[in-house]
Amino acid sequence: MNSYEGKSFNVITYGCQMNVHESEKIRGILASLGMLEIDDAEKADVVVFNTCCIREGAEDRAYNNIMALRNSKKLNPNKVLVMCGCMPQQKNGKYNLKEKLPFVDIIIGTYNINQLAQYLLMFAVKHKQIIEIVNRATGNMDSGYCIRDDKINAYVNIIYGCNKFCTYCIVPYVRGREISRPMADIYNEVKNLVQNEGYKYITLLGQNVNSYGKDLKEQTTFAELLTELCQIEGDFKIKFMTSHPMDFGDDLIKVMKKENKVAKALHLPVQSGSSRILAKMNRHYDIKHYMSIIKKVKHAIPNISLSTDIIVGFPGETEKDFNKTLKLLKKVKYDQVFAFMYSKRTGTPAAEFEEQIDEKEKNLRVNKLLRLQKIIQKEQTKKFFKKTFDCLIQQINGVAVGITDGGKEIYIPNYKFVNQNYFAKVKVEEIRNHKLSGVINER
Ligand code: SAH
Ligand code: SF4
Ligand code: F3S
Repeated sequence: MNSYEGKSFNVITYGCQMNVHESEKIRGILASLGMLEIDDAEKADVVVFNTCCIREGAEDRAYNNIMALRNSKKLNPNKVLVMCGCMPQQKNGKYNLKEKLPFVDIIIGTYNINQLAQYLLMFAVKHKQIIEIVNRATGNMDSGYCIRDDKINAYVNIIYGCNKFCTYCIVPYVRGREISRPMADIYNEVKNLVQNEGYKYITLLGQNVNSYGKDLKEQTTFAELLTELCQIEGDFKIKFMTSHPMDFGDDLIKVMKKENKVAKALHLPVQSGSSRILAKMNRHYDIKHYMSIIKKVKHAIPNISLSTDIIVGFPGETEKDFNKTLKLLKKVKYDQVFAFMYSKRTGTPAAEFEEQIDEKEKNLRVNKLLRLQKIIQKEQTKKFFKKTFDCLIQQINGVAVGITDGGKEIYIPNYKFVNQNYFAKVKVEEIRNHKLSGVINER
């Protein structure tokens, strides 16, 4: 029996899939202490804020929400507040957490989340604020516990950290250098998820999955890892994110084409359509190189679903540069675009660059870009007509729906439901108001 047994907890997550998955591990750790999850942070005995600092907005949200919980702590003096993740890991962040958050009981970073149980037990004895930020991985980053939210798609870490140092980005400073997980660990985790837990999609996570294996004793590549994982028996598919265009090699395109178990979807962040801006971003590729990858991928896998990330208003971005980004969107015709206004991150080189763009202008540009993408996306639905996609069949509101690897829904009217959560070929027969419907062909 420990002092947390039977108490309630709530985990609040900000940021990327990496954090979403880390929160799943946090839930596992708390449940292993005998605690019960509830969805009300006001009422919960332990509240964990798993934070992000990729942009100022993410930081503000976490900070304001944790401030708002201050009062509920007065009502329940035994309430324990924990802050972890990327925000505490910053050296000179916007908020001086130590000064501003004396009522937060435990503040840890990204490297020691796996030891949360120990910190909680220590706090129960000492009742004194614990602030412990470590800057390097010590041993295994995994606690062995994990409670996944989603029953269809499971996140699996393959590589931690980032060595790229794009000039706008805080990630290398808060997540440290690249550390690949041994292939055998990944293989065993995926095998268990597929064969014992029935997962249909496995999403491999890393800030830059294409760097996988370079730092391992037995050097290997991401393409080799994928090939290996495709040997696992079962009806499942593998997705991955994120890929960096600089390391995106032909070997990977080959594996994506060849292996049925690799989802036909690719998220390939471009960030800008201007090679001049890409150089200032330290992205290590130009538009010519990026377009050559897109061309090869589309040629190898014609129906692939493509998505990207864009930053608008990077320091020095002229109207001409921005127009090049719009031109790129028209050329590539992504299925989905995630566009962000550049946010100054203290400690990164770009924060010191001259010619910072004002917020109003960034706002105008991002809206213009999103309007264009909306039109492109609507146009894109046409490309689905009469094409066949390998879909996961699900039941939504009593109707059968095939979900493509890119997440597009194809309604299957007149289908007698026997089963769900299995893969089958679906042919699109009709498009009405940009909604797709089709017929199913069992595999
Ligand atoms: N490792 C991934 C994801 C990094 S964070 C990659 O390299 O693509 C996700 C996205 O946030 C980035 O692709 C970028 O578009 C955006 N981003 C990162 N830093 C930013 C900043 N300072 N301001 C605005 N957007 C940023
Ligand atoms: Fe950030 Fe660049 Fe690393 Fe992605 S590759 S995490 S954008 S530094
Ligand atoms: Fe945010 Fe950290 Fe992810 S800064 S985007 S949670 S790596």
